[in-house]
Amino acid sequence: MDIIKALEWRYASKKMSGQPVPQEKIDVILKSIQLAPTSMGLQPFTILVITDPEIKKQIQPIAYGQTQVVDCSHLIVFAAWSDISAEQVDEYIAHAAKTRNMPVEGLADFKAGLMRTITNNTTEQNFAWASRQTYIALGFAMAAAATEEVDSTPMEGFKPAELDQLLGLNEKGLRSVTMLAVGYRDEANDWLVKLPKVRREADKFFIMQ
Ligand SMILES: Cc1cc2nc3c(=O)[nH]c(=O)nc-3n(C[C@H](O)[C@H](O)[C@H](O)COP(=O)(O)O)c2cc1C
Repeated sequence: MDIIKALEWRYASKKMSGQPVPQEKIDVILKSIQLAPTSMGLQPFTILVITDPEIKKQIQPIAYGQTQVVDCSHLIVFAAWSDISAEQVDEYIAHAAKTRNMPVEGLADFKAGLMRTITNNTTEQNFAWASRQTYIALGFAMAAAATEEVDSTPMEGFKPAELDQLLGLNEKGLRSVTMLAVGYRDEANDWLVKLPKVRREADKFFIMQ
């Protein structure tokens, strides 16, 4: 689908049908998350893909009872690194050097800059920085889903600390930031499906200079 048509077609579905999304479409969505750019290329977050109905059921009250959590096909959780360590930077630099077939020493200046950034930051600042990166990937995932004619609802409406506890995220050095419920709209029962999109007028939204 043409990108603008796809973005006009998509909306944050409030009621999904429970119909499963084929694996090849999920693969496209996950690939788009993996390909999303991040600051300095660090990708300081981890993605959890939840299909287990029991786990979804336990998440629903944490998400204020929102039904998309249980009626979606796949629930994708974007969990940012709770801090950024020297080991994680080392691993990234080693991976980058291997991928580009170059010695790690060739990335020494870049690594020093990255290390300076994370050590000048507090833990909370590193987490906030990592969290911001997840939103770019979230956006890519929604756009990719739309081009695949798959519905997706971005969700901040949940209690992160409770979700972290349920999924054991703190032990993994992670904290949940957003979720994306991926599935198919329930046309007959979604109050939002027929309502026009509300967006600011272009002449007020864009400043052309
Ligand atoms: C970061 C983020 C968090 C959101 N959280 C929720 C949520 O918890 N539940 C929900 O139903 N919609 C949620 N939304 C959907 C927005 O309300 C919706 O995207 C916005 O009103 C624009 O409408 P549209 O996406 O249908 O075009 C969220 C959207 C974003 C981008």
